[in-house]
Amino acid sequence: MAPPAAGLPALPAVVRHEPPEQQDARLQWFREARFGLFIHWGVYAVPAGFWQGKPTSAEWIMNRGKIPVADYRAFAKDFTAAKYDPTAWAQLAADAGIKYVVITAKHHDGFVLYDSAFSDWNAVKASGAKRDLIAPLAAAVRAKGLKFGTYYSQSQDWVNLGGGKGNTPPWDDEQKLGSFDEYLAKIALPQVRELLEKFHPDILWWDTEYAMTPERARPFFDLVTSHPALIHNSRLGGGVLGDFRTSEQRIPASAMLGRALEVNMTINNSWGYRSDDLNWKSAQQLIRNLSDITSKDGNYLLNVGPTAEGVIPAPEVERLLAIGRWLKVNGEAIYATRGSVYPKPLPWGRTTQKARPSGGTTLYLHVWEWPADGKILLPDIKQPAHSGRLLAGGAAISTTMTPEGTVVTLPGSAPDPDVSVVALEFDHPVEVLNAPPLPTDTGASGTLADPSKSPPITK
Ligand code: GLC
Repeated sequence: MAPPAAGLPALPAVVRHEPPEQQDARLQWFREARFGLFIHWGVYAVPAGFWQGKPTSAEWIMNRGKIPVADYRAFAKDFTAAKYDPTAWAQLAADAGIKYVVITAKHHDGFVLYDSAFSDWNAVKASGAKRDLIAPLAAAVRAKGLKFGTYYSQSQDWVNLGGGKGNTPPWDDEQKLGSFDEYLAKIALPQVRELLEKFHPDILWWDTEYAMTPERARPFFDLVTSHPALIHNSRLGGGVLGDFRTSEQRIPASAMLGRALEVNMTINNSWGYRSDDLNWKSAQQLIRNLSDITSKDGNYLLNVGPTAEGVIPAPEVERLLAIGRWLKVNGEAIYATRGSVYPKPLPWGRTTQKARPSGGTTLYLHVWEWPADGKILLPDIKQPAHSGRLLAGGAAISTTMTPEGTVVTLPGSAPDPDVSVVALEFDHPVEVLNAPPLPTDTGASGTLADPSKSPPITK
């Protein structure tokens, strides 16, 4: 492990510690996975959105409600995890077609979900759960053949001394004590090392970059890169790019060249459990989000917020299972595909693609709007498909060439009201004539380089 920052050069803006081919190989499973489950679980699930009778916030409730440290700590006895069933969570993830699970090992309230040697503010020593909640989930998730990741808020901690210094002004005298650098050196960094050694996560999901200078980021960077298979996101700060960029609650307008992409989104409006947030997105919206994000060459990290007892709300379970049913039929158009051949979405839906082992391209047409006249156009593709089929049921689909492009003739009605998929086999790599080049990820750390270009999700 590298010593603390002293004497080390600051990190350059673009940090590579390995050749690009090596990074690509490390990221192969991640790029192919396309669908992950995010779990925000912690003491904030006890107040469940309410402080002093007022709706306040979910996982930010301590900060937004200016809850004194002692009062917030007192919630932990009711964080019982009494109905926590990690095997059932892993089964749900598998049934939903999810390929990796990322759980909040520590959120901004500083509470860790396992027994830490570096802070007693943890599930074993300070909560009603009185046990390690991470290890059994890691084991259950891996037993299903899925990858396991941990979220860790490295620069924002409202309970452990010194941890809140980088961000918001303190609201409790206790938070005025301690130093941020000491917090990083004595709690955050050793806890990340502890997390890596105990649970061997496949992903380390940093969050919030407040006050993370290159000097402060360096030992964290050295730590994660000393684990050769570990993948980490773009939110460490200090100029570290990470292996994949994140786009929070926004689906980008198009794919970008450069780093891998993960779009993380809530299933209702909150990350952590809020008893008053019943605004669940429809299964159709979620399936279309997965289709859309995959067409932008990204992964979808969809969040659930379990209760303090460890129950994933039933409407969240229902929706995950609906996505799983869709993926059973249409997964071929999602897993191990690459983004669209088109730089912009098409009026009737989205596309993804896969190189065929025998050469050429399989193009997947994700039809969202089934055409009244039974025809959809692949503009500016001047190549007939040698065959086509509907993924639902396998009916043959034919194409014809027109001056505008390839026209696909569909049966009378959509096999799936959410997204129906047609697979077209082309003998040569598919090219879109006169397509403008894709934008390139400029390497702005943190969230996506240009999220402003994508409209918020309205449905
Ligand atoms: C934000 C929030 C946090 C949430 C995260 C999920 O950074 O601070 O509460 O965990 O987004 O991506």
